[in-house]
Amino acid sequence: MVNYCKSKKSLVGKTAIITGANTGIGYETALEFAKRGCRVIMACRNQEKANAAREKIVQATGNENIVVKSINLDSLASVRDFAKYINETEDRLDLLINNAGAAQLPDKTTEDGLQLEMACNYFAPFLLTILLLDLLKKSAPSRIVNVSSAAAKMIHNLNLEELNKYGGWMLYCRTKLCQIYFTQELAKRLEGTNVTTYSLHPGAINSEFYKGSAIGSWVGSKVFKTSEEGAQTSIYLALEDGIEEHNGEHFEDCKRVKPYCGAKDDEKRKKLWEISEEMVGLRQK
Ligand SMILES: NC(=O)c1ccc[n+]([C@@H]2O[C@H](COP(=O)([O-])OP(=O)(O)OC[C@H]3O[C@@H](n4cnc5c(N)ncnc54)[C@H](OP(=O)(O)O)[C@@H]3O)[C@@H](O)[C@H]2O)c1
Repeated sequence: MVNYCKSKKSLVGKTAIITGANTGIGYETALEFAKRGCRVIMACRNQEKANAAREKIVQATGNENIVVKSINLDSLASVRDFAKYINETEDRLDLLINNAGAAQLPDKTTEDGLQLEMACNYFAPFLLTILLLDLLKKSAPSRIVNVSSAAAKMIHNLNLEELNKYGGWMLYCRTKLCQIYFTQELAKRLEGTNVTTYSLHPGAINSEFYKGSAIGSWVGSKVFKTSEEGAQTSIYLALEDGIEEHNGEHFEDCKRVKPYCGAKDDEKRKKLWEISEEMVGLRQK
C-alpha cells in the first residue's frame, strides 16, 4: 500500500524549481505541480531529454508555464550560473526540490576537486540551496525538499575526514546521510524565516536510477514502486499544511520517521556544514 499525498492545494501563482525533473521521481513531481497550476522550472543537465519531458507535461496538463533550464550538478560553476540566472530573472521561489541524484558513478574528481558522486548528490545541492535562500525567504512561506534515501541508514558514524573518499555503494549512502544532516542544520538556521525544509526517502522506485545495473533494473521492474508512487512524499512535503513544526525532519511514505541512527550527532551536523561551506567556496579554508 502506498500513501498518496491527499492535499488539494492549488499552486497557481507559485514557482517551483525541481532538479532532475526530466525523468523518474522528479518528472512525476513536476507533472503534479504543473497540474496544480505551478510555474515549474525543470533544472536538468540533458536539454534534449528535458525539452521532451516538458512537452509531455504541457500536453498532459495544458500548463505552458513550464521552463527548462540547464544545470549540471557535477560542476559548481554550473550551479552558480543557474542560481545567478534564477536570482536575476525570477520574482519568487516557493518550492525548491533537490531531487536529482545518482549512484555507482565512476571514481572521478570534478573540476572543483570534489568526489563526483558527493558533488552531484550533496555539495552541488548544498550550494544551490544557499544561493537561492534570499529568493526563498522573500517568497516565504516557502519550502526546500531534499530527496535523500534510506540508504543513509547504512552509515552509523560519518567520517568527516573522508567525505571525498571513493567507496562504491557506501559512498552513495554517505551522500544521502550528508543530505539529511544538511536538512537538519538548514532548518535550525532558517528558524524564524518562514522557510522550512524536509528530507525524505522516496521508497525503492522503478526509475532510470538502476539503468546501469541489469539485476537492479530487473528487480525494479518486478517489485519496486512506480515513479508516480515514489514522488508522493516529495509532493506531500511541498504541499501539506501544518508540517512546519517538523522543520528539518525526515519522512518516508508521507509520514514522519525517527532520525536514522547515523543522523543524531549535533556536533557532526554543525561541522559538516562548515566543511561544506569551505568545499563549495563559500568560506575560506
Ligand atoms: N529510485 C530509487 O529507488 C531511489 C531510492 C532512494 C532515493 N532515490 C533518490 O531519488 C532521487 C531521484 O531518483 P530517481 O529514482 O528518479 O532516478 P532517475 O530516474 O535516475 O532520475 C535522476 C535524475 O537526476 C538527474 N541527474 C543525475 N545526475 C545529475 C547531474 N550531475 N546534474 C544534473 N542532474 C543530474 C538525472 O538526469 P539525466 O536524465 O540527465 O541522467 C535525472 O533527471 C535521487 O536523488 C535518488 O538518489 C531513489
